[in-house]
Amino acid sequence: MTNLLELKGISKTFPGVKALSDVDLDLRAGEILGLCGENGAGKSTLMKVLTGIHKADPGGEIWLQGKKVDLKGPNHARDLGLSIIHQELNIIPDLTVAQNLYIGRAGSHKGTCINDRKLVRNAAALFERLNMDLNPTDVCRDLTVARLQMLEIARALSYDSTKILVMDEPTAPLTTTETESLFALVRNFITPETGLIFITHRMPELKELTDRISVLRDGQYVGTVETETTPLSEVIRLMVGREVPADARPTTKPLSDEAVLKVEHLSTKKAVHDVSFEVKKGEIFGFAGLVGAGRTEVARALSGADPHTSGDVYIHGKKVRIRSAADGVKNGIGYLSEDRKQYGLLLDKTIAFNTALAAMEQFTTASVISAKKIEAVAKDYVGKLRTRTPSVNVDVRSLSGGNQQKVVIAKWLAKDSDILIFDEPTRGIDVGAKDEIYTLLEELAQQGKAIIVISSELPEVLRLANRIAVMAHGRIIGTLDNEEATQENIMELATVGQEQANGVVA
Ligand SMILES: Nc1ncnc2c1ncn2[C@@H]1O[C@H](COP(=O)(O)OP(=O)(O)OP(=O)(O)O)[C@@H](O)[C@H]1O
Ligand SMILES: [Mg+2]
Repeated sequence: MTNLLELKGISKTFPGVKALSDVDLDLRAGEILGLCGENGAGKSTLMKVLTGIHKADPGGEIWLQGKKVDLKGPNHARDLGLSIIHQELNIIPDLTVAQNLYIGRAGSHKGTCINDRKLVRNAAALFERLNMDLNPTDVCRDLTVARLQMLEIARALSYDSTKILVMDEPTAPLTTTETESLFALVRNFITPETGLIFITHRMPELKELTDRISVLRDGQYVGTVETETTPLSEVIRLMVGREVPADARPTTKPLSDEAVLKVEHLSTKKAVHDVSFEVKKGEIFGFAGLVGAGRTEVARALSGADPHTSGDVYIHGKKVRIRSAADGVKNGIGYLSEDRKQYGLLLDKTIAFNTALAAMEQFTTASVISAKKIEAVAKDYVGKLRTRTPSVNVDVRSLSGGNQQKVVIAKWLAKDSDILIFDEPTRGIDVGAKDEIYTLLEELAQQGKAIIVISSELPEVLRLANRIAVMAHGRIIGTLDNEEATQENIMELATVGQEQANGVVA
């Protein structure tokens, strides 16, 4: 039987970077193929070649259902049944859901008016068919990232002609429940005539969803394995070229009982209720919980990003007033926010510049900024985090998604804050680099800092946090020592807390 899709000998060169060299890939009809590889391995680039966005170097071939095709561009690719959901959201915040859905499409020229009834009707019908809870007239600016992701998916599926769908890390901003409903949609899309290529850094998702897994490393094709018969550790070894420990636990302990940060009865208007905890010198303190539990809101209140209505914050035993983000910085609180694309990076500036961004004063003597110092520090982090780039003087925009994340992390690591809050620090980062980041966070803790980690990935919390606070509905339901914590008892606390708050009696 001919394959639905075959890529043969695809290469792609960017200035200074050979992103792909001689890559082969095939997709069978009716199959979900996982595509994985480290940050910068070339996954997104390969998929952009397949969907007509990038033109490959001469010599490569694309075969669809046994026929060789010469892609003229994205529209041509779409006409041939190739659709992609990109790693970055492509949504115009000021337009409505329905407008974003149909923007730029033939027949939609009149559709820029908010009240276009037909657009709204079509969108509503589509959401109903896909079983998606989206409102066509909502303005996109007001929606959560998860909902915007749903909208992207709806857009790709709204082309009836779509035969091959590519999803480039669609689950990165999603929670477990949202991921489950995405998987249901994906499985629904698959028929004997269609196929799906699914990119993710969450290894368990590959196991759950895919039929086969193809691996890229450094722009080269490593191989393809059958999902059912291949242990994930083997896939990781193919990706990273070495063993990465699974289910690991912290390797460091707090340096003393001294509380660097002490929070008492913190409340905000809506999301945080009477939260108290302390983080010791050299401790990594974790927050776990279901999404909406209030973890990010605690971080935002502590860093001064949001106001709090009551509660006291002590740093090194001294009561501090945090009324604004500037107060947070002044008091040595660094917050790596969960929404990094928006707040984290200047895409048209270099890696070096972005790395120094939060800590300019450290690189300045008598109002002269030392470019040399900045470059040295940026280089150090590029090495430590294994950021794939030709130099620290390239614009961040040209980096792969995961490598951009590494720059944001470097930015916060470079800033010498006493208290560091990391909200979903390894989202979009490959398994090998995650491990490096864990080690770096432990090193920072051992320098005497207090570190807070918020993560929806339980293995990550268990790997890092000396103690774990489990939140539900804005409250800390319980705090576990790492030694007694398991995925099961964390989840139990989180869900029981949720049910109690909802008034469900077990
Ligand atoms: N427009 C561009 N200009 C220059 N270099 C680019 C461009 N797009 C990608 N690259 C480079 O090509 C390489 C592959 O990037 P790509 O985005 O395909 O990686 P990826 O496997 O998708 O990684 P991630 O998991 O981080 O998303 C990287 O080294 C990246 O810096
Ligand atoms: Mg990518």
